[in-house]
Amino acid sequence: MIHTRRAIAINAPPPGAPSARALLGRALIDDAFLRNPYPTYRALREAAPLVWSDEFFGGAWLVSRHADVEGVLRDARFSAQRTGGWVMRSDDSRTELRGFQRLFARAMIFLDAPDHARVRQVMSAAFRPTDLQRLAPRIEQAVSDRLDAVDIRRPFDFVSALARPLPAQVIAMLMGMDDTEDDQPSEIVDWSDELAAFIGAPAPSLAQALSAQTALLAMARHFESLLARRRAGLESDGHRNEPARDDVIGRLLQAECLGQIRGSAELLAQCVMLLFAGHETTRHLLANGLRTLLAHPALCQRLRREPALLPDAVRELLRYDSPVQYTGRRVACDLTLHGQALRRGDLVVVLIGAANRDPARHERPDELDIARGPGAPLAFGKGPHACIGAALTLMEAQTVFAQVLERWPDLALVQPDTACGTASPLYRGLTELPLRVRGVGGSVTGPAYTAASPA
Ligand code: HEM
Repeated sequence: MIHTRRAIAINAPPPGAPSARALLGRALIDDAFLRNPYPTYRALREAAPLVWSDEFFGGAWLVSRHADVEGVLRDARFSAQRTGGWVMRSDDSRTELRGFQRLFARAMIFLDAPDHARVRQVMSAAFRPTDLQRLAPRIEQAVSDRLDAVDIRRPFDFVSALARPLPAQVIAMLMGMDDTEDDQPSEIVDWSDELAAFIGAPAPSLAQALSAQTALLAMARHFESLLARRRAGLESDGHRNEPARDDVIGRLLQAECLGQIRGSAELLAQCVMLLFAGHETTRHLLANGLRTLLAHPALCQRLRREPALLPDAVRELLRYDSPVQYTGRRVACDLTLHGQALRRGDLVVVLIGAANRDPARHERPDELDIARGPGAPLAFGKGPHACIGAALTLMEAQTVFAQVLERWPDLALVQPDTACGTASPLYRGLTELPLRVRGVGGSVTGPAYTAASPA
């Protein structure tokens, strides 16, 4: 059990711990870092394997080297149960945020064994290659429809046209939500954004936590009524223990009947988790990835000629500029790492974005090189919590990039530096990506694209 008071009290470096502030001579998270975190990551990697920072959640260890990031993610002494001191960081917030914590803490991503393995087994059944292959034509069609709707006679914003709405639409397909306002209300992406704003803040305010709670509970109410409709269908069919549909919701309902999912809160938690885990992340891969590709015209030409290279390209884009820059763990028992004493309850932030640029793991790490060869990118994590949506993400991103490159050979960034970044050190992405198709109307500098709402 992590004590809330302690999580707040730790804001000075433990004895002997190098402090990030002292090492860098400045705050770690500033505007320059948000624009380009890679020089700071290099400084951290080179300075020490473990650095203390008071900018993350009132105080946390930062791990930046590839071997250590992978090691922590695979090591059961580092617990995924970390929502207690995160959601409810003061006595004042304990009551106000109880609903948030109750649901959030039950999501698979925050569970340890054996509960984690039990829930993951149920969820994995819906992410099999055959399930994903069944979705492929629908994803192709959804991408094509969204690209058809773009008016290329003028500059347009790729984020609002495709990167923001598509991932939620694809997750909804996977979950088995019908394409109706009842199943997929228009607020679903906004709710997910509110939640992402909380998750993406290194030290969320009470106001951010309350907004996230409002969104989470709205999402939960939505799923509650959807699940009630699906349960009613199961019962009236007389197939109480058979899934009527083998989508995620169908499998979760069946697992609930079999006792593999324990109670409706656990079931609801997995539904909302899928939305927030898959939406914000994939959206940034699509926008960041396309911006990076367009900044490398020779690579774009090569991918048009040899689309079979797209899987390698997407993997490299994930390494080069990871949409998820870090994740966290709590130290489950007192231990020593690199000669440093870590106390039970300490928070460890594993800097995935830094690990992916570690020269000890990748030659010329700051270069985009699609010939690096296979290997699951650390961008999806490692160990028991490695991303369950990785294969879906790769399929979705390949589909998008293939269609965009083939459809618009003369696609270009409106200006190399007009893209607008998220203000989060966790989610590395864009709130807008203005593009134009050269030679088809539109002025190079014209602001006439539809701006996305800020994330
Ligand atoms: C670019 C896209 C994505 C990235 C970069 C990404 C990244 C990650 C990372 C780093 C983790 C590990 C977190 C940790 O160990 O604490 C993770 C876990 C997870 N991801 Fe993703 N993800 C992406 C897309 C998706 C999608 C599309 C879905 C679902 C449809 C999804 C669902 C999940 C779930 C459920 C987990 C928790 C797995 C577990 O706890 O066993 N992700 N993801």
